[in-house]
Formats: sequence, C-alpha cells, structure tokens
Amino acid sequence: MRVAVIGTGYLGAVHAAGMAQLGFETVGVDVDEAKVERLQSGRSPFYEPGFDPILAEQVESGRLRFTTDFSQIADADVVFIGVGTPQKADSHAADMTYVDAAVASITPHLKDGALVAGKSTVPVGTAQRLAEYVAENTPEGVTAELAWNPEFLREGFAVQDTLHPDRLVFGVTSERAEKVLREIYANTIEEDGTPVVVCDLPTAELVKVAANSFLATKISFINAMAEICEAAGADVTKLADAIGHDARIGRKFLNAGVGFGGGCLPKDIRAFSARAGELGAGHALEFLAEVDKINTRRREHVVDLARVELGGDLRGRRVAVLGASFKPNSDDVRDSPALAVAGALHLSGAEVHVYDPKGMENAAKVYPTLTYAPSAEEALAGAELVIHLTEWQQFRDLDPAALVGTVKQPIVIDGRNALDPELWRGAGWTYIGLGRP
Ligand code: UDX
Repeated sequence: MRVAVIGTGYLGAVHAAGMAQLGFETVGVDVDEAKVERLQSGRSPFYEPGFDPILAEQVESGRLRFTTDFSQIADADVVFIGVGTPQKADSHAADMTYVDAAVASITPHLKDGALVAGKSTVPVGTAQRLAEYVAENTPEGVTAELAWNPEFLREGFAVQDTLHPDRLVFGVTSERAEKVLREIYANTIEEDGTPVVVCDLPTAELVKVAANSFLATKISFINAMAEICEAAGADVTKLADAIGHDARIGRKFLNAGVGFGGGCLPKDIRAFSARAGELGAGHALEFLAEVDKINTRRREHVVDLARVELGGDLRGRRVAVLGASFKPNSDDVRDSPALAVAGALHLSGAEVHVYDPKGMENAAKVYPTLTYAPSAEEALAGAELVIHLTEWQQFRDLDPAALVGTVKQPIVIDGRNALDPELWRGAGWTYIGLGRP
C-alpha cells in the first residue's frame, strides 16, 4: 500500500516518517514550501526526540518524500489528514479552514478505492460532512471513502506514540475501511497487541476531545487541590502520591504546578465546549469552563507569588525564568504557561531573563521583547528571583549550591514542583513550591 499524509506539523511529519519506517511508500504534502524543503533534505523543522534519524533515514531510502504538489497523492491507497485545527481568532471554536482546504485539494486526485483517514482533532460532525463532500466530488468513476482515525500522540514522545500507540480508534462506515486501517497498523496490532476500538465517525471524533478533556480536568483537579493545600498548609505532591495509588485514579497527570498549555489541551477543551453549545448540549460541558479558569489562575498565581517575594513591585526587578516551551522535550511554545508568566512579569515591569534548552527560537518570535540568555547559569546571574516553569531534566540537574553565589537573592519559585526542595533549601535557597507548605 502507498500512503500520503497531508500536513507536516508535529503530527503529520512524524506520522509520515513512521509510515515509511513501517515499509509504506509515503508522501508528505504541505502548502508550506520552506517546511517541505527542509523535510525533503532530511532535517526536521521542529525539535522532537528521536525523529531526526528516522526522517533522514527514510528520506535517504527514497521511501519517504515531501512535496507541495497535491497531485502527488494520486497513487495513494490511504490519505491521512493531519493538518492543524487552531482556535478561531474571534471565538473558542476550531478553525476548520485547513482541514477543509486539505480535503478539497486531495479530492480531485484520489484514485478509485482510496481511503481518506482524518487524524486532525475536529468538532464532532466534521467527518460525516467531509465524507459527503468526498463522495460527491471525486472524479467520474472514482469511489473513495472517508474514515476517522484520531491521533493521541504526545509531543516529546511522538515517535514512540506513532509507532507503538496505546490504542487505535477506527471510525468507519464500512468493513473495507476497517480492513485497510488494520493493514496499515498491522505491525503494532500484531507485535504490541494494541487494542483497536472500531466505531462510527462521530464517536471516533469524540474520543479524541473526550480524552483531552479528561486529561485537562485531571490537571485542573490537582491544581484546585493545590489551591486548597496552600490555604490549609498541606502538601499537594504527597496528596497526589496518596490518591494516585488508587488504581482507579492513577498518579499520571496529577502533577500540580503552573498548569497545562500547548497546541492541544487548551484549545481542544474550548472548541469542544463551543461545539457542544452548537449541538444544544452546552450544559454538559460547563465544567470545562471551570477547568480552563483554574488553569488560567495558576499562571496568575505564579505572577502574584513573584510580586509578593519581591516586596510588592516588579518594576525594574531582575527575574530569571527557566523554561519557555509548554513542556520539556519540546520546542513548542504554543499557549506555553512558562512564556505566559514570563510575558506577564515583563508587562509588570520586571527585567525578565529566559532560558530554555530548545524553545527559545520559537519563544523569541512570540515575545521578542524578553531577554533570552544563552544558558541557565547566565539567566540566573544577578537574579533577584528564579522561577522554574518547564521541567527539563537539565533544570532538575542544576546544582543549587554552585548557583547560590551567582544570584542577587537566592529565592526560587518551582512552578512545576520538580526541583528537590531539600537540596535547594540545604544550599541556602528559599524554595517555594506550588501547593506545598
Ligand atoms: C496532549 C495529549 O496528552 C495527547 O494525547 C494529545 O494527542 C495531544 O495533547 P501534548 O499537548 O503533547 O499532548 O502534552 P501533554 O503531555 O498532554 O501535556 C500537556 C500540558 O499539561 C503540558 O503543558 C504539561 O506541562 C501539562 N501537565 C501535564 C501538567 O501540568 N501536569 C501533569 O500532571 C501533566
């Protein structure tokens, strides 16, 4: 089988390389010429651990190629759609421009029997609409079908999640479509025993937003507990450990801190609520507005803590911010809590020095007015306050004893509860965790 992947962002590029790695001749299509050129030369346009070698190897082998020419999908048996669905500029709804454009661009080139498999996160009902579009607009004599196959990959683990997903969801309208998808994923189904859930189109679309809503809710739940812990003088990290031992709850995604960000969770819960409203079921998701509010409050709380630690006024105060990407092992700064806090501190008059191992180039495009330091040590030099906001291993490994003499005032706010309080306090620092005494 031959595969095409439309959209070469974090999702599409990794999926395309993964498909090639599994042995399928694969073409990745994107409208962004610079991105296509870079990928075609075997270099990734973004940082994703383990991706570069696979990309280079597959491009080199000729099994994987990238193009801006949609007619190149003409011999594909399966065409995956992996373009973005960002939040609309004027509402919380998802902007479907790119998905619609992708489907419109491929439909005239589809071959008879081709399967279009949507991966993007879309408002429920989109797949049915696109299925009708494809059925009506394929060239004379061509029958093509549409399926929905949501993607659950996490940035930072994209390669692993693509090649060895923890589950597969096939939203299909025929046995044939299911058979094609089973063939595409035969490797992981057979070797890893990956469970497959076969369902209808709307259920497949909903699985993705339901999963992300649950994860966002779990994070906001523990952050709400962090607020209570702060009021009561309790420790949210111990609380999370203790409730996490209950197998029904589980310890994952119970790390309290500055909250969630990224290109998925924040916009997905908003788009899901907006879609529920359109369906007349908005009341069912009212709690997601609260989840969002708790999350926003975390960022404000860190800024408030900083202001308190610096005696009530941030103007002219030198603050070091460790972290810019929305989570470690990623250079993605979309809706990054770290950058939001750094930006707010800057707006309040602080002199903010940011360091991130991979996210600074992207951060500088969004917040060019912040100062970007070449290393963590240089960000810290002369700081009156250090705020840790993205838990890169490199920051966990910092030696507080070596750094204590380089700052003006040894105070650290650990916005991820990821540094060792005893180690930092032992080295002479005032350590402030979130939701911890
Ligand atoms: C998420 C989903 O996990 C993934 O399944 C989906 O396909 C896309 O959206 P991703 O955005 O890559 O993936 O990041 P994720 O690991 O989920 O983290 C999201 C945010 O939550 C990050 O900002 C992270 O720092 C934060 N987070 C995560 C917490 O604040 N606490 C936690 O316990 C876990």
